[in-house]
Amino acid sequence: MYDTKVIDLFKEFDRGIAEGAKLIRAGDAVAFPTETVYGLGADALRSEAVSTIFAAKGRPGDNPLIVHVSQAETALKLAHVTRDAERLMEAFWPGPLTLVLKKRPCVPYEVTAGLPTVALRMPAHDGALALIEASGVPIAAPSANLSGKPSPTCAQHVIDDMDERIPLILDGGPCEVGLESTVLSLNGQPTILRPGVVTSEMIASVIGSVSIAESVLSPLRDGQSVLSPGMKYTHYAPLADVIVVDGEWDKLAKMAASIYDAEAARGNKCAILATEQTRVFYGDRSCVIMGDRENPVTICRALFALLREADEQGINTIIVEALPPTGLGLAFMNRALRAAGFRFIRA
Ligand code: TXA
Ligand code: MG
Repeated sequence: MYDTKVIDLFKEFDRGIAEGAKLIRAGDAVAFPTETVYGLGADALRSEAVSTIFAAKGRPGDNPLIVHVSQAETALKLAHVTRDAERLMEAFWPGPLTLVLKKRPCVPYEVTAGLPTVALRMPAHDGALALIEASGVPIAAPSANLSGKPSPTCAQHVIDDMDERIPLILDGGPCEVGLESTVLSLNGQPTILRPGVVTSEMIASVIGSVSIAESVLSPLRDGQSVLSPGMKYTHYAPLADVIVVDGEWDKLAKMAASIYDAEAARGNKCAILATEQTRVFYGDRSCVIMGDRENPVTICRALFALLREADEQGINTIIVEALPPTGLGLAFMNRALRAAGFRFIRA
């Protein structure tokens, strides 16, 4: 058990980075902000250091981690960097794009869960980049939540999940993106394993074409092999039941309202995660506005925090409005459907 310390990077940037780097070098795990979600990092080149991450999160050992670098050149030491990878790094690094490449032998078994590939990303966040630089090693980091919970998008979420489990949390305020990075496999035909704000259209504009793994919007079928081990676990799940409702705005909202009424009649405490465009349909039902459909970035940023808030308020049933599964909508739907355990109703 640790006496977890929290350092505010806005007030004490240099001290926070120095203490974080010291712990990383000593083989400990440190939570730090990135532009996507908070990460729980350790020295990516040491097996024992990486093992502390799995222990703190309760993460299954066969789910590999993303290695974070502060310079594109470090990628060359960790993986076989293809021409497509180079072009994508040039276009999107630092930023929320993770590349899965053939690994080199220096990357330990624990990081890749025994896979022949390693996932690499350079975060677009001053605190994250400074921590990697000061540590002098690449940092392996999953999202800093307890395994199965929604990813943390502010330091309080990390405190809620990780207090006493890790020595240090660096507080960099709320995350700008709020959903995890796009994970793109370049081991064979380029394939999106996890959609994010770097969309398939943006990737295709750099390397020509890209496919999207079937598991992005559907549950794995029995016996189906997994491209990305992370896809087979329950994810982003609050304690409440989650239902996703899809369709045109007006129809969708009517359906969401009727599900709300039915659930409420059964004594369930409900909340609708709605949008600016649909709020008028809900009357005095309890609803929270995720953001604006015209500006889906706002909706993506809010999702995880609102799932956690619903739990705090003792909500039993969360009804989430779907977005069209294109562009950012694909990233949103990937998370919303997993949070719902794929419970989905079309209006
Ligand atoms: O935005 C992000 O990516 C955040 C921040 C902290 O950088 N990190 C993050 O890590 O979301 P995590 O561990 O929660 O998700 C990593 C995903 C998992 O679905 C994992 O299975 C997949 O990437 N992954 C990691 N290495 C892989 C590999 N070699 N092949 C296929 N998938 C891999
Ligand atoms: Mg995660």
